[in-house]
Amino acid sequence: MNFYDAINWRYATKKMNGDAVPKEKLDNIFNAIQMAPTSIGLQPFSVIHVTDPELKEQIQPIAYGQSQIVDGSDILIFTAWDEITSERINDYVKLTGEIRDLGEEELQPVRNMAEGVASRSKEDQFNWSARQAYIALGFGLSAAAIEKVDATPMEGFKNEELDELFGLPEQGLKSIAILALGYRDEDNDWLAPMKKVRRPKEELFVKPEVPELV
Ligand SMILES: Cc1cc2nc3c(=O)[nH]c(=O)nc-3n(C[C@H](O)[C@H](O)[C@H](O)COP(=O)(O)O)c2cc1C
Repeated sequence: MNFYDAINWRYATKKMNGDAVPKEKLDNIFNAIQMAPTSIGLQPFSVIHVTDPELKEQIQPIAYGQSQIVDGSDILIFTAWDEITSERINDYVKLTGEIRDLGEEELQPVRNMAEGVASRSKEDQFNWSARQAYIALGFGLSAAAIEKVDATPMEGFKNEELDELFGLPEQGLKSIAILALGYRDEDNDWLAPMKKVRRPKEELFVKPEVPELV
């Protein structure tokens, strides 16, 4: 499906039917998430891929009982770095150097930019990382639609409890969103026949209102 048809076809599926997403479709969705742009290119996040039914059952009550957690075949937990540590910066600079065959001097600008973010408060570093992860979430959502795979983005869960379940504090990660992937149960999903609600373009796209200079 092309992108413009896909964004009309997709919706935040409330009821999935348990069918499994084929591997080649998952690979394409993962590729889109991997290829999403991020500030400085740092990709300050990890995505936990859950398929195990027992583990999904443990997540479901943390996500207020939402059924997509168990009826979706693949659950992606987007987690963001809690901090831009020097180890994380070093790993990225090293990777860039290896892939582009660059020396430390040529890599200095990218190191400086990353260190700039790392000098902010810890909360700011996490929020910055989370913003990058959300771009990847958007890419994943779009790719799923193009693959005709249903997807529900979710923030409706208790972050700290999910972090605890996956031992995220020890890994320097915090959960930010879940993406449930699967197939819509059209007959039993109350949202399936509903029209989309979107603010009109005249409200979303506005002319600049520059205050008059005095
Ligand atoms: C970051 C984010 C978090 C969301 N959390 C939930 C959620 O926990 N459960 C749910 O059913 N839908 C959730 N939604 C879906 C939104 O309610 C939905 O995208 C919005 O109403 C627009 O509808 P549409 O996606 O069906 O076009 C979330 C969407 C986003 C982008």
